[in-house]
Amino acid sequence: MRRSGQVVREVLEQVRRAVKPGATTLDLERVAAAKIGELGATPAFRGYHGYPCVLCTSINNEVVHGIPSAERKLRDGDIVSIDTGVVMDGYYGDSAITIAVGSKVAEKAQKLLAVTEQSLQSAIRAVKPGATLGDVGAAVQETVEAQGFSVVRDFVGHGIGTHLHEDPQVPNFGTRGRGQKLKAGMVLAIEPMVNEGGAAVQVLKDGWTTVTKDGSWSAHFEHTVAVTDKGALVLT
Ligand code: MF3
Ligand code: CO
Repeated sequence: MRRSGQVVREVLEQVRRAVKPGATTLDLERVAAAKIGELGATPAFRGYHGYPCVLCTSINNEVVHGIPSAERKLRDGDIVSIDTGVVMDGYYGDSAITIAVGSKVAEKAQKLLAVTEQSLQSAIRAVKPGATLGDVGAAVQETVEAQGFSVVRDFVGHGIGTHLHEDPQVPNFGTRGRGQKLKAGMVLAIEPMVNEGGAAVQVLKDGWTTVTKDGSWSAHFEHTVAVTDKGALVLT
């Protein structure tokens, strides 16, 4: 899982370099697909429940699962979430980042990116044997809500290993001390999705693209994280 995690990391860094005003989300898809092939991995998302691409690219009010398209051009001031997964020798890695496009991103959107990433880091700090999934969710939720943003509840993180999605579900909200206890050897994909406005989301008619109900902007960061005796080990 270190190896699949490392591939995911390199793919995201390659895509980050291709994010600029004027690039289409299909351009990013092509960069990612080429890099995954070059590194000898297999994309985890393409073909998963019929999903057509190796990346999810979700712009502004899109929360997750945006489908790369030649028709979607990034503009200066946008934010774009890039989510990808791969499988290598039977083991999966899954990670996402959200990137500011160009130099005109509004201050509130920049804060949204920073707070969402901080909420993932505080969740990772909560990971250790004996901690609970409630501790992890509460760490995200407290970080986000203290800044006036809201946590998406309709989608959650997940266990990951020989499948992309395994038990347990990993909510981005919760109560400390509640929920399943973490044990060394578990691996979790922790993935806060955070909205500037309300938490409600809806899926568009394409069956995938998920947007905020109120049109507010949304950010998403994700890491694949192993529980070890020494605490969290970030694999991506
Ligand atoms: N990171 C997301 C997840 O873990 C992406 C899945 S997209 C899909 O659930 F296409 F694979 F469904
Ligand atoms: Co995931």
